[in-house]
Amino acid sequence: MKIAVIGAGTIGLSWAALFAGHGHEVRVSDPRPDLVEAVGDLDVHIAASVSEAVRDADVVQENGPERLDFKRELFAKLVAEAPAHALLLSSSSAIPSSEFTAGIDGSRVLIGHPFNPPHVMPLVEVVPNPRTTEETVRKAVEFYRSLGRVPVVEHREVPGFVGNRLQNALQREAIHLVQEGVVDPAGLDEVVVNSLGLRWAAVGPFLGSHLGGGPGGYRHLATHIGSSMRRLTLGQPDDSPEATERVIEAVEKAYGDHEYTELAAERDRKQLAILAARGQGDRK
Ligand SMILES: NC(=O)c1ccc[n+]([C@@H]2O[C@H](COP(=O)([O-])OP(=O)(O)OC[C@H]3O[C@@H](n4cnc5c(N)ncnc54)[C@H](O)[C@@H]3O)[C@@H](O)[C@H]2O)c1
Repeated sequence: MKIAVIGAGTIGLSWAALFAGHGHEVRVSDPRPDLVEAVGDLDVHIAASVSEAVRDADVVQENGPERLDFKRELFAKLVAEAPAHALLLSSSSAIPSSEFTAGIDGSRVLIGHPFNPPHVMPLVEVVPNPRTTEETVRKAVEFYRSLGRVPVVEHREVPGFVGNRLQNALQREAIHLVQEGVVDPAGLDEVVVNSLGLRWAAVGPFLGSHLGGGPGGYRHLATHIGSSMRRLTLGQPDDSPEATERVIEAVEKAYGDHEYTELAAERDRKQLAILAARGQGDRK
């Protein structure tokens, strides 16, 4: 398959590695001056323009800046210039595709939202807009599955889709607990990594709760332990610039002395080990 990767930052380069690793012909377009160094030894072609990258593409995966004006202009070009059969996929984290396809043909466009880094994380949130055809959704699901990913089709567009909304809910409470002095950032991370994170690597919140209820299942949990949990009032973090700065400083105190690349490599090593243990360790 011929795949155009538009935008070669954190997400685009990771997608490019995955696509190339599965034997696809990958064309990358990005105006960044250090594109050649950024691409490194990935087996991909560097295109001189978006037009050149998408000219005969079967799939386009867009990973440009998370700005509505950018995606609006780019998708108008993609719809006009990519072949009629090409899937037009956006990695957007929060902008639904109906917002950047208003006034153009959105039938081949949908969100294919990965978690970072997509060559490691299996999830791809597949989010059609109201005009995306069923055929496009089916082909996108098939495409992501063929790469060993786990596509989840969402029924309706909401800002942030599902994954980031869940992440945001937990993050808000985490910030609030640090701001209230209940725990420091490293302690909170330890709580998650040694309990919820491990659990959620195996079962999601609903199956986890069902199992947590013992033989009585989710019903038992919801009506007994769940009722005492409802006494908890979740906090609203203080999002003033001063309060935000204090949290940033606390996180930097915990992790700022470590090299980003070392931390990222360590994260990938652990995530890959968990995936291998789950029989999903195939990293092409
Ligand atoms: N970083 C994440 O954790 C994450 C996760 C999932 C999805 N996303 C989404 O993926 C997209 C990219 O995010 P990122 O973190 O890789 O950003 P990034 O800033 O690392 O990369 C964006 C790239 O787009 C390039 N670009 C700018 N104008 C362009 C143009 N006209 N044509 C082609 N490329 C152009 C930039 O030079 C840059 O390299 C965003 O929509 C973001 O919301 C990010």
